[in-house]
Amino acid sequence: MVSFKDQCIMVTGSSRGIGAAIAQYLSTLGARVAITYSSSKDSAERVFQELEGSGHLLLQMNVTQSKSVKEAFDKFMNHFGSLSALVNNAGVTKDGLLLRMKDEDFHSVLATNLFGCFYCSREAAKYMIKERKGSIINISSVVAQIGNPGQANYVASKAGIEGLTRSMANELAGRNIRVNAVAPGFIQTDMTEKLNEKQVHAITDRVPLKKLGTPQDVAETVAFLLNAKYITGQVISVNGGLAFR
Ligand SMILES: NC(=O)c1ccc[n+]([C@@H]2O[C@H](COP(=O)([O-])OP(=O)(O)OC[C@H]3O[C@@H](n4cnc5c(N)ncnc54)[C@H](O)[C@@H]3O)[C@@H](O)[C@H]2O)c1
Repeated sequence: MVSFKDQCIMVTGSSRGIGAAIAQYLSTLGARVAITYSSSKDSAERVFQELEGSGHLLLQMNVTQSKSVKEAFDKFMNHFGSLSALVNNAGVTKDGLLLRMKDEDFHSVLATNLFGCFYCSREAAKYMIKERKGSIINISSVVAQIGNPGQANYVASKAGIEGLTRSMANELAGRNIRVNAVAPGFIQTDMTEKLNEKQVHAITDRVPLKKLGTPQDVAETVAFLLNAKYITGQVISVNGGLAFR
């Protein structure tokens, strides 16, 4: 099994869901991780308590504010002294049909998903360039490739993340920093727990593998990419075949 011993990894938005699963899995592989949350401190503390090993860090960080991001990275470096990898996972949705979508709903989704990814990556790159190594993983979505009615803001943010991934990969490759994205499809999280059997069936019927993915499926792909030394600038789909139907 791959070991992440001696690696210090920041996972944004890891107070629940996919981010929590990524942080938890990386801790079982030996990494020391920073759990970050924007407002849900209780939930973040629960995830933090359940991490394997010791020496982890719990941080408050609002990814929409570059000042908050800078302060969180300063605390990360004071605690760990080194940054091996960043997983840009924090994300939100504010769905609505195009003609009814409010300016603030478009702005706020772009602010969290795309600007947040940019602010954190820029801050991480500053430290990684000094260390001449590092890896950044951005969490996109299957909808970046196929679009989705009612999600113009979310889809635009995720398509932006994929462009940002390729651009940063080109720019930072010379400094031995790799940048990749993971694009999940329908993943079993708190959100899908609320769906009834009929709704779940309607979703899984569209998926060639005929089931929802799990946060662990995404976490394992993140771990694979963190360890894949000759892969950069790629978007890896974790969607049960959905995008290729
Ligand atoms: N669940 C799915 O089916 C699915 C599918 C494709 C992509 N994704 C992506 O995976 C990622 C995680 O999704 P999830 O389902 O676990 O979502 P979630 O809502 O359960 O968790 C999102 C996390 O982001 C954090 N966050 C939100 N706004 C923030 C901000 N301004 N600053 C810092 N943190 C903030 C939240 O506190 C939370 O920890 C997101 O980027 C999402 O777009 C999810």
